[in-house]
Amino acid sequence: MDAALRESGHGTGLKKTLGAFDLTMLGVGAIIGAGLFSSIKEMITGRTLGDGSLFVGAGPAVSLSFALTAVACGFAALCYAEIAAMFPVAGSAYSYSYVAFGELIAWIIGWDLLVEYAIGNVYVAQAWADYFNALLRGLSDGAWHVPDWLCTNFQTATARVAEATSTLADPAAAADLVAKATGARPDPAALATSARQVLDAFAAAPRVTLPFFGAAVLGVNLPAMAITLLLTVLLVRGIRESARMNTAMVVLKVLLVGVFIALGFGHVDPKNWQPFMPNGFTGVWHGAALGFFAYIGFDAVSTSAEECRNPQKDLPRGMIWSLVLCTVLYIAAALVLTGIVPWDKLEGNDPLAMAFEHIGMTGASTAMAFGAVVAMAAVLLVFQLGQTRIFYVMARDGLLPKKFASVHPRFQTPAFNTWVTGIVVALSCSLLTPDQAIGLTNIGTLFAFVLVSIGVIVLRQRDPDRPRPFRVPGYPFTPIISALACIGLIFGLESSNWLRFVIWLAIGVFVYLIYGIRKSRLA
Ligand code: ALA
Repeated sequence: MDAALRESGHGTGLKKTLGAFDLTMLGVGAIIGAGLFSSIKEMITGRTLGDGSLFVGAGPAVSLSFALTAVACGFAALCYAEIAAMFPVAGSAYSYSYVAFGELIAWIIGWDLLVEYAIGNVYVAQAWADYFNALLRGLSDGAWHVPDWLCTNFQTATARVAEATSTLADPAAAADLVAKATGARPDPAALATSARQVLDAFAAAPRVTLPFFGAAVLGVNLPAMAITLLLTVLLVRGIRESARMNTAMVVLKVLLVGVFIALGFGHVDPKNWQPFMPNGFTGVWHGAALGFFAYIGFDAVSTSAEECRNPQKDLPRGMIWSLVLCTVLYIAAALVLTGIVPWDKLEGNDPLAMAFEHIGMTGASTAMAFGAVVAMAAVLLVFQLGQTRIFYVMARDGLLPKKFASVHPRFQTPAFNTWVTGIVVALSCSLLTPDQAIGLTNIGTLFAFVLVSIGVIVLRQRDPDRPRPFRVPGYPFTPIISALACIGLIFGLESSNWLRFVIWLAIGVFVYLIYGIRKSRLA
């Protein structure tokens, strides 16, 4: 730990510019985003899984889901704060597990954080694209929008072709599909006999048009890729400009959530809250596990530790304050949303904008879309930043090629790894489905939280005398409850995510065995 602290304090070249206010802003910037603006819909309604079974949602009790997750995150934040304050280095959970558990676990956590930051950003960028499209529509009275094939992902596009292909086996069903898309019901007998032709029939409805490239269907997410690359350029140019711009975006989005609550409040019909828990505790639990995404971000504050002026005091403050502020906003927004719209009537990817449409406030709906676009850009910024700093520290430890730790001579930012991150995230936006992205992100982050919580206990045993400017209250129960709560949330997620996550970790161990184990500085 001493070696790591010494090293982080000198010679790395990162500028120390951030205070408690900046950190709280970074926290809120990371926290309020696609979780509130997009995934809240599935938290409420649940969804149908691939096998046709139902993953039930919380219904109006989504506010309870948010409260439950906030409690779990609160315990985890205290654990993060204790370690971050005694060990203020960039790299967050990665660095903490390095000193608590050693290199292998640290590598696994670093690999795992890649999921939290980079894959999390994939979900946010995709939600950003949806709201960007809603904004375009709102501003032009429906005249402009990004074509469907430029605002999707390869898997979804391919699945749509498969659906059309299998529908072809049943001409009546194909005719139904075309009727749904175009409003006119063709004669089933006259329907073409290839998926391509059925899709061409769909072309009359702009939202379901998909172009082909040879035999392969094309589906990319252009807005998501564009925003990711734009922010990458900003980050390469330097954290100070980025932090200042982040603050402006945060103020705007807190205002907008406030406006949603204030305007919506007058339209709440308490009848919509009955029954409050339509799917019982299972629904609330699923909602909490999914809603965990909405809280991810307070931990990202700790990745800026090496750029803080006074990390011991300011890091815990930044994390706790941002968490408290967001919890209040989420619970209020959830109550208002479910009070305005009957929970089983929520549709589309832009639930907050849709709520205003539901009560006839179209202008407010467009304003919400605008707010969401700004809010999610702020989220993207913080996570792109966090990811680059984790890469930076991992490369410094020799677990990744040295190039990832190189600092740009003029901008003093890790420019190379910032570009790598930007390009990987941008491409993934066109490859992963939103459900895969959010599921993997939640499970990966929860896993990191479990290890950080256990790390608090391990470090108190191994290094009891080191000064701890912030100590977890209620030790040892707090870290134990934190770990158990996070494990509980993991089990609230769809089981398909567990398998994906295990595969991801297995790939990580393989990479370690062929690279890190030989090249690390420890080795
Ligand atoms: N908490 C962040 C969001 O909701 C990741 O977008």
